[in-house]
Amino acid sequence: MTDARLPESARLRERAASLVPAWTHTLSKNPTQWMQGTAPAFLARGAGAHVWDVDGNRYVDLPMALGPIILGHAHPVVNEAITKQLQDGITFTLPHPIELEVAETVLERVPGAERVRFGKTGSDATSAAVRLARAVTGREHVLAAGYHGWHDWFIATTTRDIGVPKAVKELSGTFAYGDLESLRAQLEVREGKVAAVVLEPSGAEVPADGYLQGLIDLAHEHGALVVFDEVITGFRLGPGGAQERYGVRADLVAFGKALGNGMPISALAGPAKYMDVLNDVFFSGTHGGEVLSLAAARATLGVLDAAAYERLYSAGAWLRERVEASVTAHDVGHLVTVSGEDPRTLVLVSEPEGAEGLWAKSLVQQEMARKGVLYNGNNFICLAHTDEDLEQVADAYDAGLSALAKGLTDGPQGVLALLESEAVSPAFRAVR
Ligand SMILES: Cc1ncc(COP(=O)(O)O)c(C=O)c1O
Repeated sequence: MTDARLPESARLRERAASLVPAWTHTLSKNPTQWMQGTAPAFLARGAGAHVWDVDGNRYVDLPMALGPIILGHAHPVVNEAITKQLQDGITFTLPHPIELEVAETVLERVPGAERVRFGKTGSDATSAAVRLARAVTGREHVLAAGYHGWHDWFIATTTRDIGVPKAVKELSGTFAYGDLESLRAQLEVREGKVAAVVLEPSGAEVPADGYLQGLIDLAHEHGALVVFDEVITGFRLGPGGAQERYGVRADLVAFGKALGNGMPISALAGPAKYMDVLNDVFFSGTHGGEVLSLAAARATLGVLDAAAYERLYSAGAWLRERVEASVTAHDVGHLVTVSGEDPRTLVLVSEPEGAEGLWAKSLVQQEMARKGVLYNGNNFICLAHTDEDLEQVADAYDAGLSALAKGLTDGPQGVLALLESEAVSPAFRAVR
């Protein structure tokens, strides 16, 4: 993997190879997920909806650091909150009162929540939810749909489960999102054993009418708690997240990403009858209650008013329409879908029959990077995406899909022939 267009990216990638196993600390940032040579390997800075790579090229960001940057990079209000707090210290031996202020704001916004605990990562929040559900129910099994983080209980259900004990794998299962019968079958096979049903309430698939309430009722019939993983949807689909948007109440709700506009903070919220069991269940860390992130959360929540959500929805809807028009114009609807809620749509590219890798996805990413847009499938709309940025993004999608259509005229090999570097890899490829 060498490249003349992005020399500093290439140099740093080589340097990382002997320093950092798998190059990066986050799978989605890995060079195997980005078309090396066209997309950069390292970014140096960001402002608003833009980022600059280490070679000085500017891009419109769509993954927005994998979701947290809901206001924009280096947002002035958040920056000011962080720098002001920085003068007074980062973290302390005892809690800081800002914890309570942010707790009150979160509880005002999250339907049904009476208590909240803060963590640092989404994985903290979902894993605390699972431990708490086990403690509440006295059961050990967990059923999951979606992605929930790097801890054993969830990774046990994936193809990247190397290193996860067999005993843990036996306790974790999956069900198909959107299909109550799939969940029912799993609950029956594990009758009386399931502590928690954990799901992303809305993602690539938006819930059909009645699905989420049906799932909650079904889980309760079988004595399991329902954990909504709102690490992505929380504070993005609206102040009260997916619970508010779809008018349902989960037993426990995990938050992360948008809460801190990029600062590491997550939260677990729910009614007192469950959350107060955390008086005894161990969920604790050195950086719990770290104050810079809480200051960022307070500032972020302050900016996320009704007008902000209107903008996230209208900008997302505009982009969705433009991408759908390009899909139609280039006749690639058999491979390319546009789905999800407007503040975070997904443009997913599947592979033509006969492709031996993610050739089509790679080509779209390559061509979009060439047009100055970072694409990985997620359109995380932020408040800083201007109409002009979205116009650039829509044009880049059009160029990517046009290239795909052109390649496809010669079948999968035609797509491969247009790739200028090794195709990107599936995130959850089998590793054994
Ligand atoms: C829905 C969902 N849940 C949980 C997580 C895990 O969050 P983190 O990576 O902050 O641990 C993620 C991360 O992408 C996520 O998208």
